[in-house]
Amino acid sequence: LGVRGLRIAMIGSGYVGLVSGACFADFGHEVVCVDKDPSKIEALQAGRIPIFEPGLEALVGDNVRQGRLSFTTELAPAVSGADAVFIAVGTPSRRGDGFADLSFVHAAAREIAEAITGYTVVVTKSTVPVGTGDEVERIIREAAPQAEFAVVSNPEFLREGAAIDDFKRPDRIVIGTEDARAAAVMNEVYRPLYLNAAPILVTGRRTAELTKYAANAFLATKITFINEIADLCEQVGANVQEVARGIGLDNRIGKKFLHAGPGYGGSCFPKDTLALVKTAQDHGAPIRIVETVVAVNDQRKRAMARKVIVACGGSVRSKTVALLGLTFKPNTDDMRDAPSLSIVAGLKDAGAVVRAYDPEGMEQARPLLDGITYADDAYHCAEGADALVIVTEWNAFRALDFARLRTVMTEPVLVDLRNIYSRNAVERHGFRYTSIGIA
Ligand code: UGA
Repeated sequence: LGVRGLRIAMIGSGYVGLVSGACFADFGHEVVCVDKDPSKIEALQAGRIPIFEPGLEALVGDNVRQGRLSFTTELAPAVSGADAVFIAVGTPSRRGDGFADLSFVHAAAREIAEAITGYTVVVTKSTVPVGTGDEVERIIREAAPQAEFAVVSNPEFLREGAAIDDFKRPDRIVIGTEDARAAAVMNEVYRPLYLNAAPILVTGRRTAELTKYAANAFLATKITFINEIADLCEQVGANVQEVARGIGLDNRIGKKFLHAGPGYGGSCFPKDTLALVKTAQDHGAPIRIVETVVAVNDQRKRAMARKVIVACGGSVRSKTVALLGLTFKPNTDDMRDAPSLSIVAGLKDAGAVVRAYDPEGMEQARPLLDGITYADDAYHCAEGADALVIVTEWNAFRALDFARLRTVMTEPVLVDLRNIYSRNAVERHGFRYTSIGIA
């Protein structure tokens, strides 16, 4: 340990696997990223990054050139001889009951068991329900009774769009293990961050697993709280941005994650809140506050279509509504559980003609959103529209030329679901302006 860097196998080269693998390589470790999907691995080997994440292509390219990062479909050679094997495969919501689908995690554990040699730390990085570490341990122990290994939970807290920075400058690292030797290997894995004074919390494995869900559920609750305060602001003539600032400056509350909007989406909050709700119910300790958050957020996404309809005078039948932004947030091409999906459905149900533009998300959006048309930029999107709706706060939409928009649109209506404009700035150009929680 120490001087040479560790040998790390990353099972699953999706979002978390790829970012973690590239960052670990950048720390000086020798990392092999494994994925079952040959087209993904071929693309990575050719230097093409299958996801959009700022800085990732350069980081991957750099570490591949330095010989520290490689990609393969072959799990066994990557795992055998590794000091640490990370499981970063998907844990989608199971159809029907919403519980996390662990079949990919269990399959990875079985394959790892066949391949490990020498003392190996097996780390679950995927977000997995409490008790999954026990199950992974049982699977490996059964398949390879002689194997020397420990199973550690090491949840990831990075955000899409800021993933590399979050990974390299984390608020904390959580390592769940009762095994001292495994904890020492994990310290080695994160040594560069340790030297940067990032707090490392070593906890029980189940505690680490639950910490991840608790963190995401708390953040989702914070967003949902301010969203409901925003609705109240509209009714009583208050301003949610000022309320958010007014409460956020209290250090006990904190100012982050208090931006009112169309509801949270993405690959994590919707899935993880639902999984936590199920786990809690299964253990007879229901977390009703999170059950409510899930329900409120679902309704909110759909309610955003009604907001547009109201802004259009009560009907959008045969009107053209132009949407700016489709991804669940900026700087990603990720469409998973994006509010735009519910908004488009609501608008189409109400008879609107929908046109959309997103800087990175249109390719992912196409199979999910049929019956709408796509534009090349914001102005093209707005041509002949009866309303322009900002759904995702991409930087490209923060300095729109309203004089120009006014000339191409049929009706000057702007619905700003992310509060990126001030009423004055927009109304000055003759627009009618609707925002979130600003009376
Ligand atoms: C989230 C967490 O922030 C990460 O810490 C966590 O690691 C990750 O899930 C995960 O579990 O993998 P992410 O889903 O990438 O990260 O995106 P966020 O930036 O957290 O945004 C999630 C959603 O909340 C977006 O739809 C965003 O628009 C919305 N949001 C966020 C708000 O509506 N208001 C806010 O104030 C903040």
